[in-house]
Amino acid sequence: MKFVAQSLKFKAQKDLLGRRVTIISTTFQNTSFILPSIRAWDAFARKIVKRLKPGYILALSGELGMGKTTCVQALARALGIHRLPSSPTFAIMRSYRLPKSVNGIRRLIHVDAYRIENENDLVVLDLEDELSDGCSILVLEWPENVPNWILRHDVTTLHITENKT
Ligand SMILES: Nc1ncnc2c1ncn2[C@@H]1O[C@H](COP(=O)(O)OP(=O)(O)OP(=O)(O)O)[C@@H](O)[C@H]1O
Ligand SMILES: [Mg+2]
Repeated sequence: MKFVAQSLKFKAQKDLLGRRVTIISTTFQNTSFILPSIRAWDAFARKIVKRLKPGYILALSGELGMGKTTCVQALARALGIHRLPSSPTFAIMRSYRLPKSVNGIRRLIHVDAYRIENENDLVVLDLEDELSDGCSILVLEWPENVPNWILRHDVTTLHITENKT
């Protein structure tokens, strides 16, 4: 009980600082954004969505509880998706249809690699094939767990940290 209370206090302190998102990309301009509160994700997501095209891969990196799933949810909202992504507990991958196309995008694929211990578990999903339909984008949490897969693909990384400045 004491441990739970302490970790909640720690989380609250961390959340007060807000977040910094650093974009590392060959397609996007490398830059960073400050998101002072959880509400700031929506405006951020709308900016990112304007630049997305079918076939794009966004890797969301950052420590436990930094806001990767929150970011996926904001991206989904910005794409007009009503059923919001959650942390897939049993499935590694889930996909969401857009009610109407946005820049040619009609489907969001959400992969959470948190539980992946062997990269082959990702390879068997054949995400290249999923992305070859010409209307899908992929958002992947925990790229740290699949470094070789990341190296083989053109990936834009959104790195989320606490905003310490
Ligand atoms: N911009 C922000 N400012 C302050 N707090 C934030 C911000 N964004 C997210 N948070 C907080 O961080 C938590 C992040 O939870 P979330 O599940 O999105 O993280 P995660 O990185 O997906 O975690 P996991 O590592 O378990 O996959 C939210 O519940 C919220 O409290
Ligand atoms: Mg998550």
